Amino acid sequence: ATTENTNIVIFGASGDLTQRKLIPALYQLFASNLLPEKFTVLGVSRSGYSDESFRDKLHKALEDSENVDSVTLSRFIEHLYYLSIDPSDSSQYGKLKARLDDLGQAHGTGANNLFYLATPPSLYGLIPQYLAEQGLNKESDGWKRLIVEKPFGYNTASANELDDVIHEKFKESQLYRIDHYLGKETVQNLLVFRFSNGMFEPLWNRNFIDYVEITGGEFLGVEGRGGYYDGSGAVRDMFQNHLLQVLAMATMEPPSAIRADAIRDEVAKVMQSFQPLSDDDLKKNLVLGQYTASEVRGEMLPGYREEPGVSDESRTETYVGLKMFIDNWRWNGVPFYVRTGKRLPTRVTEVVIHFKKTPHPVFGKDAPENKLIIRIQPDEGIQMSFGLKKPGAGFEAQEVSMQFHYQSLEEATLLTAYERLLLDAVKGDATLFARSDAVKACWEFVEPILEYKEHPDALFGYAAGTWGPKEADDLLKNDDRAWRFPC
Ligand code: BG6
Repeated sequence: ATTENTNIVIFGASGDLTQRKLIPALYQLFASNLLPEKFTVLGVSRSGYSDESFRDKLHKALEDSENVDSVTLSRFIEHLYYLSIDPSDSSQYGKLKARLDDLGQAHGTGANNLFYLATPPSLYGLIPQYLAEQGLNKESDGWKRLIVEKPFGYNTASANELDDVIHEKFKESQLYRIDHYLGKETVQNLLVFRFSNGMFEPLWNRNFIDYVEITGGEFLGVEGRGGYYDGSGAVRDMFQNHLLQVLAMATMEPPSAIRADAIRDEVAKVMQSFQPLSDDDLKKNLVLGQYTASEVRGEMLPGYREEPGVSDESRTETYVGLKMFIDNWRWNGVPFYVRTGKRLPTRVTEVVIHFKKTPHPVFGKDAPENKLIIRIQPDEGIQMSFGLKKPGAGFEAQEVSMQFHYQSLEEATLLTAYERLLLDAVKGDATLFARSDAVKACWEFVEPILEYKEHPDALFGYAAGTWGPKEADDLLKNDDRAWRFPC
């Protein structure tokens, strides 16, 4: 894919995501000479900025950041423009079309337009229609691409509906659904690690793997996003998308080639093989939790219900733990324990592969197991644990480990998730974006959990700063196992 001249249109330009993630990512791409030679960024939202005041605001937001050089920043800022329209009013889109025509001519960026929907989700269905009314979905004069932020839908029905509405005007190949976890270097590495190493590839199945843990933990609470989060909860916010994507990367079949559709075919296939959750699973294999106030390292942290924007009777889950299975040839019978939560002891995302023990326990039944810990973040890397003879008399085995840290690579600057994804969208590479069938499969899989959430016994409490409700420990304890408690 080549990087062609382009106009990047950001809807929701006065919002938090634009300032915190999108503009910094575009700046870094610009500073690394990765953006096309000719490009413009047109911010669109209701707020009444001019080009100048929009530039000033973002200049101020970026100037004190790490890795920002003032000369480069001034050059970058000149590419920014702003248009104040109400994106929910179709009659104002003529102005957008005219502005884009002008920018395209003045800057030689033509009619290649990348539209980024960073607005409230209620506008995701409308904006594409209104763009189409101005012909801004037609590719005769240049490509048109639509990036849609998460959440893509609220449940299966609304996700399908949104898909149908967008597909009336945009083809699937023009659509880029963001799941920023796919933009993470270490998530992509799951594929390279699995399919480029003859040492591990043959073992990656039910014959050799005993069970798998996937943890996506955060120490932060809802951070002023209570209003959004209370209507969402951990299942929609993290589990349905990020965690299931990571699971898919760890379990999918090898793609026939490193091409968008070849990879996305395998992702969809494994997601469609998640074993549907029965009523029994919901009762025995699912734990939903909500954090309560607690003192952590000398600081009193509020409970979830005390967070701004959250109802004081809220039953929204801030923790999900689930034991699940994949109904296919490779994974039959292997349990996957997947958990995510806010206000856990630390921020950590990792996949832990536990290998089966050797057949006969000559060194005692407590001899170490083999495990691979694939650390997605922070301290990105891989750790392999295995048994070794404990020095001294006798034949006791002890666990030791070998570690690789990304930091130790010479070329250690990893593109952030948003840098990678924006760059790919500009290039027209959809590999790391969620495809329609995959998103649907994930919603269908979590749908019974969404219904079960309403059940009066569904929610357990856990003290902020702990690893979730005690019931979540029982999920593994009942199988004679325990979660790894990473630090
Ligand atoms: C977002 C969720 O999608 O992912 C947030 O809405 C969450 O609630 C965030 O904090 C986690 O992302 P990361 O990249 O910090 O792990």
